[in-house]
Amino acid sequence: MAEPYYLTTAIHYPNGKPHIGHAYETIAADVMARFQRQRGREVRFQTGTDEHGLKMAQKARELGKSPRELADEMSGYFRDLFEVLDISYDRFIRTTDDDHHRASQAIWQAMSDKGDLYLDRYEGWYSVRDEAYYDEKELVEGQGGEMLSPQGTPVEWTEEETWFFRLSRYAEPLLELLNTPGFLEPTSRRNEMIAFVERGLQDLSVSRTSFDWGVQVPGSEGHVMYVWVDALTNYITGLGYPDGGELWEKFWPADLHLIGKDIVRFHTIYWPAFLMSADLPLPKKVFGHGFLLNRGLKESKSLGNVTDPMELAEKFGVDALRYFLMAEVTFGQDGSYSAEALVNKVNAELANSFGNLAQRTLSMISKNMDGKLVPFDTNADDRALLATVKEASAHILPREFEALNFSVGIEAWLKAVFACNAYVDEQAPWTLKKTDPERMNAVLQTLFMAIRDLAIAIQPVIPTKSAAVLEQLGVGQGHRSYDDIADNSWFSALAASGHFIDKPTPIFPRLELPEPEAV
Ligand code: MF3
Repeated sequence: MAEPYYLTTAIHYPNGKPHIGHAYETIAADVMARFQRQRGREVRFQTGTDEHGLKMAQKARELGKSPRELADEMSGYFRDLFEVLDISYDRFIRTTDDDHHRASQAIWQAMSDKGDLYLDRYEGWYSVRDEAYYDEKELVEGQGGEMLSPQGTPVEWTEEETWFFRLSRYAEPLLELLNTPGFLEPTSRRNEMIAFVERGLQDLSVSRTSFDWGVQVPGSEGHVMYVWVDALTNYITGLGYPDGGELWEKFWPADLHLIGKDIVRFHTIYWPAFLMSADLPLPKKVFGHGFLLNRGLKESKSLGNVTDPMELAEKFGVDALRYFLMAEVTFGQDGSYSAEALVNKVNAELANSFGNLAQRTLSMISKNMDGKLVPFDTNADDRALLATVKEASAHILPREFEALNFSVGIEAWLKAVFACNAYVDEQAPWTLKKTDPERMNAVLQTLFMAIRDLAIAIQPVIPTKSAAVLEQLGVGQGHRSYDDIADNSWFSALAASGHFIDKPTPIFPRLELPEPEAV
């Protein structure tokens, strides 16, 4: 039986079009989903849009639309983007979906039954941009002396009657959870959360009465849920909560909530506390990734440096974008990107290294071996190369991807690609054609085997391009996994089947550097 694996991205506010950060997070989650499937696990992958709250209500008013119209329109852009980016999600949830309202009301009811909700008056600071309450002590002073949230966003004073959640009750179990190895990664984010709990948890305001764009609080006219209460619940809505059923049984608790580092507090303090209150199992891991900076700067409308990820994908290709983002940035840390960096990296590593390896190997097999595979004996050099490739493809890359060290896994893979190219240069199969054709066969076919393993290993990152390489090798779309890489028996069977290799066409064209002003 395949072990189930449930992963989620944060759900995104559809108050505007998606930006590069949304693409980044969702690509990373997709790489993980594809990787786990390739490991043989039964994966459920959820993403979506977070459509309630004051931010959405205000934005819609500003545009003269209803929040629902705004959500419909923008949510569509997210879905279109994820289509283009080849995101293999199982459910795209919208928090305006009916089943989500039911699930949110059910978890609310469970928290209420526990005695964890009480009515009181909230007086304090709220950031609409973050949809977050802040304690006065957390605020920082802006350049003009104004009060800002710790994230640098404006805050406003709020006073209203709201429901409160007894967060203060959960300090002990939360500390225990935060200290559980593997629960919150990277571990650098752990101390901050522990310090937050240790400073003393205050009860959390969990409903709003000053506007009505949200999930109705059951039995409490005029109250809608605080947007994070319903948003976080999306993770269980998508599995059939509160009805239970097959998805629920199989996939909850989640194996991974993949989120940005700025919303770790919501996922490792509020969400587990809600779940504890409702007597539900806790997610196994929350990973807070870093931010992508545009040449070192945060993208913003005022700087005029906002990149449309759709345009990047169209200009450079989806797999080039996916590869660049995963290979360039140490996952968990902030990273910087630019069109030049993308073009240079993709040209060096995919076009000139992996692409060229596949292209020249298959061309020589097509030309010098009439496109046919034949039985052959390996020598020590061949075996050493295959061992290097297998170590990277079947061991290092999977080990690192499992730990979300995507760039480290890709680097090991790339080193194996370099080893193959060095081997081609050393063995010089083109000169063997006259001097020792049998040896030439062995060299080219060793490379053939190596390319197959490398293409399988990198498939979660560049699914379409890898599939194209495998297609050219003629090893088809059959079952492939990391265990498959360890096994060589496929080769003789393929050779015996009269397999034919066509003259290849390049799969990884070199990218052109964009005009400076077009970036
Ligand atoms: N919409 C929130 C944000 O972009 C994330 C919500 S993730 C949730 O910051 F699932 F937890 F709600």
